[in-house]
Amino acid sequence: MPLTAAFRDLVLALAGATLIAPAATAETVALSIDTSKPGAKLDRNLFGQFAEHLGHGVYEGVWVGRDSKIPNARGIRNDVVVALKALRVPNVRWPGGCFADEYHWRKGIGPRRAVTLNPNWGGVTESNAFGTDEFMDFIDQIGSEAYVSVNVGSGTPQEAAEWLEYLTADQPTTLAQERAANGHAAPYRIAFLGIGNESWDCGGNMTPEHYLSQLKAYCRFVRNFNPAQQQDGRRMLKVAVGPGGDGPRWTEWTEAVMKAWAGRSWSWDIDGLSLHSYTVPKWPPSYKSVGFGETEYALILKTTLEMDRLIATHSAIMDRYDPQKKIALVVDEWGGWYAPLPGTNPGFLAQQNSLRDAILAALNLNIFARHADRVRGANIAQMINVLQAMVLTDEEKMILTPTYHVFRMYVPFQDATFVPVSLTGGFYTHRDVALPRLDAIAATDAAGKLHVAITNVDASAPADVELSLAGVRARSAAGETLTAPRVDSVNSFDAPSAVVPKPASAAIRDGKIALRLEPKSVTVISVE
Ligand code: AHR
Repeated sequence: MPLTAAFRDLVLALAGATLIAPAATAETVALSIDTSKPGAKLDRNLFGQFAEHLGHGVYEGVWVGRDSKIPNARGIRNDVVVALKALRVPNVRWPGGCFADEYHWRKGIGPRRAVTLNPNWGGVTESNAFGTDEFMDFIDQIGSEAYVSVNVGSGTPQEAAEWLEYLTADQPTTLAQERAANGHAAPYRIAFLGIGNESWDCGGNMTPEHYLSQLKAYCRFVRNFNPAQQQDGRRMLKVAVGPGGDGPRWTEWTEAVMKAWAGRSWSWDIDGLSLHSYTVPKWPPSYKSVGFGETEYALILKTTLEMDRLIATHSAIMDRYDPQKKIALVVDEWGGWYAPLPGTNPGFLAQQNSLRDAILAALNLNIFARHADRVRGANIAQMINVLQAMVLTDEEKMILTPTYHVFRMYVPFQDATFVPVSLTGGFYTHRDVALPRLDAIAATDAAGKLHVAITNVDASAPADVELSLAGVRARSAAGETLTAPRVDSVNSFDAPSAVVPKPASAAIRDGKIALRLEPKSVTVISVE
């Protein structure tokens, strides 16, 4: 049985299957899809993950060590690997974040590892037990690709160049032989190279000009030698540090990098510009991740929609220098950032993950999809036990979060082709907050099958939708829906299946699809 089917069966068995059938009470919303006007490809890298050496993200979340009683393969926990495989994670960004600009890779290879510090995150020690070869093993186990961020803040182009030689050289250089002695004779494949992280702040508080001089040197000297990665289409893509907001500081940063790129010489080039944007209405993060009500639900979701404006602002600058859209905008840190859970090290960024986060994830994925001509990568922060995670672990226990379920439901959108959707669902309002009640995207996969994702943001009103396909009569439609009793419903170690997808089925009436959307729900259906 394919892994995703096995997962679905497991989830359904835990949840008890229910059928969401159309009923006649709610107002019917017309949603039309025109498959004759295909848009951009939804790059599978829009569904990337981020794993930083932070709190229990890597240690305990991924790495338990070879001698652990938790079942593992070469120190990497098996339950997490199975869970992540079902998401078809396209790439994992590692080792940071702010951590990356203080990371010295040589401390994390070979039989003897130096114990260092992690001053950014909780002031704890870093055992370096999970280093380069363990990360690449993890990537291999989950069937993903590596997005390696090199140290620009406190490193040198030479240190990064030697790391890439260690990773990718095929010829018998001393570093390639060291890699072989550490258990991997063949060169690794590195899909993405991040050149610095937030170099305007934790990465060294650089001006755009200073960063650009660093960027050019790293682009020139940090090479990928893997023979299998020398042709176009297989090349390692280089991602420059981009903006972290939409004020003048950030627009000037984007302007400076793009202007430099437009005037580049043969000696350097980039493929992507990163964008970081968290949903965090107040700094320091003080909204609770569980135990909140509709006011915080509406506010957080309204705030998350700012992602659309942010992307539009920076895309417009990029369009001026790069009308052919060669440079991808890579939203390589995004997600909800809330107050640390009581009793945890505040530097570990531990938070729960609720139905609200599932909806937040769907809204952002939909925004990325609508900007897919420019946004060709995104990495939710972070994969395990940190911020808006897919998975939470507690020693040998593991739970899947509501966000995990949305990522699994959206798997059919990976590399599918966007098709335009039009709908008028009106507004959901709560007190002084108003936002569109319904949000939807549609895409066709390589086999020509249509997938539609619809989110009903309204916390209490269901929505009946009548979906029509221009020029096509639908024969059947089925999928899954994710909702829960409360806006702050979570999965916990005691109740791991409080928020899990259930089957959604739709009635076909006169070639149109009639579907009831539960309040505060995310639904994904596939149409025949
Ligand atoms: O994801 C947590 C931190 O947020 C990252 O290390 C940093 O890049 C960002 O500020």
